Amino acid sequence: MATWSAPGKVFLFGEHAVVYGKPGVAMAIKPRVFVTVRKSRNPTRPKSPYIDECFRMMGVRGSVYVHSQLQSSSGLGSSAAVTVATLSAINDEFNLGHAREYIAETAFAIEKKVQKGRASPTDTYVCANGGMVLITGNSKRRLPPENLQVVVGNTLVSHSTAKMVEQVGNLRRKHPEVANPILDAIGALTLAALHNIGNPKELGQYMDMNHALLEALGVGHPASSKLVLAARASGAYGAKITGAGGGGCIIALCPRRAKSRVAGAIEACEGRAIITTIDTDGARKE
Ligand code: PMV
Repeated sequence: MATWSAPGKVFLFGEHAVVYGKPGVAMAIKPRVFVTVRKSRNPTRPKSPYIDECFRMMGVRGSVYVHSQLQSSSGLGSSAAVTVATLSAINDEFNLGHAREYIAETAFAIEKKVQKGRASPTDTYVCANGGMVLITGNSKRRLPPENLQVVVGNTLVSHSTAKMVEQVGNLRRKHPEVANPILDAIGALTLAALHNIGNPKELGQYMDMNHALLEALGVGHPASSKLVLAARASGAYGAKITGAGGGGCIIALCPRRAKSRVAGAIEACEGRAIITTIDTDGARKE
């Protein structure tokens, strides 16, 4: 029997702009998905196309038990975490000897297949490796970890990443003269934020700017606006949509002492709050 876990992720800066080759920064966060795999002739496991694909790709049969601290379809990368943790546990239980890189690449291939081509390598890379990652085009680079104090607010409004990406694409075709400068500005602020990564107050202001630009791109939602405003009013340094938008989650960067107040304000606005910080481990044996 082998149990492995993998973390969720948030976008600190640059979602949507990364689709057009601009830089983005993603970070693994503490809530995890735990997966236990056991060799078995009569496998039992949860119904999941991701888990089925993991066994098909690795060419073995086994039973699976999943325990998740991440809500699915919230934009926190839960499908990538399930896939990475399952592949890692299979690799261990069957002594297949694959490296972490292979697990991340295979997990991306599985996400692409299950999501019919609409997957980004960001989620699988970040949750396999942990830490903070700079994404530029196809290249990914791990950044020195920063102990950022973050509160995630889930609007509980379900969204579709594919739909939101398509919507931004349509805006860009219809109004390139407006949409392109917004995407450029997101790229520029991501780079500027990277130079201030050790200064949370400053970083919060970049988050606020990033949020305004995401709303200008049309991926805002009344529920996420409500949570962002509540987080700022209760002491966050800054707050923004994280991920595709149109519902989903927001993140607030907070002074340590304000975290529970910010979480309370999010819950008072009918959101679900997660108080968290960076996870530097990535996929890990339990
Ligand atoms: O909602 P999420 O966490 O899957 O993030 C989507 C991020 C986008 O930039 C909108 C799309 C992508 O593939 O990078």
